[in-house]
Amino acid sequence: MKPLRKVVLPVAGLGSRFLPATKAIPKEMLPVVDKPLIQYIVEEAAEAGITDIILVTHSDKSAIENHFDKRFELESELIRRGKTDLLQLKRSTTPSTVRIISVRQPQALGLGHAVLCAEPVIGDEPFAVMLPDVLMYHPQRNCLTQMVEVYNRTHTSIIALEEVNPEDVKKYGIADVKGNDLRIAGMVEKPEVDQAPSNLSIVGRYIFTPRIMEILRETQPGSGGEIQLTDAMQALLEYEVMFGFLFDGISYDCGDKQGFLQATVEFALRDKHLSDDFRRWLKPFAAALD
Ligand code: UTP
Repeated sequence: MKPLRKVVLPVAGLGSRFLPATKAIPKEMLPVVDKPLIQYIVEEAAEAGITDIILVTHSDKSAIENHFDKRFELESELIRRGKTDLLQLKRSTTPSTVRIISVRQPQALGLGHAVLCAEPVIGDEPFAVMLPDVLMYHPQRNCLTQMVEVYNRTHTSIIALEEVNPEDVKKYGIADVKGNDLRIAGMVEKPEVDQAPSNLSIVGRYIFTPRIMEILRETQPGSGGEIQLTDAMQALLEYEVMFGFLFDGISYDCGDKQGFLQATVEFALRDKHLSDDFRRWLKPFAAALD
């Protein structure tokens, strides 16, 4: 099995839950504290040893490609003004160990379709998929790094899972898992609590063997008329084993306003430059809430 070098970042969605903010700005460019969501994801991928980052993008979303490109005028202006600290921040948007490649998804036909659009660049290699609006925080080793370690042992597809409150299972895709090694037996989209096979939700980080692309080519539109990645994952189980990886950090669904706000507050509290002042303001503010 080939080593894992590539990640697909689907960024061609409509971002409709964040309108009007996302009318002219891609959802993936919304900042949490001082970095756009997509930059957290690229940094997580780079730390996990990924070298090729494939953005599946749309003509309305060129701001994302621009963010990772050079801006010579801005650089020379910052040099002229002696602002070397800002220059360093600007240059550090793209980690030096990665290259960014873009492919287009002309129409938002679903997450499965977006992944399939990357097939010409993926070829016959295993690859990761990271949802750019899901931030995963871990104080020591990031989520994808830990998943790559599992992949290097199993050489199978791996899905990140997270425990959720049983009453919340109806909001998520839930995995049916068997045994201590979390072998995936199936998955159910938004089940009722009494029909849920577990309380383990599928959370936005995946590693796939290349066979998923063959399956996606044949996958018909499912729920919402979109080509669903979950349908292809379910079909992959007929050919290959797949394991869950139970993430023990915190995930934030930043495609949703509540998750985005929680991420903003918690990342600010973890930021060494901001946390003291922010905490000093937040504590009495929160205590005064009823
Ligand atoms: P979401 O469903 O969360 O994003 O897809 P969305 O469709 O942009 O947002 P809403 O629901 O309208 O608010 C998760 C990720 O998959 C990408 C999105 O850009 C997002 O980063 N995606 C989704 C695609 O690239 N193509 C698609 O057809 C669908």
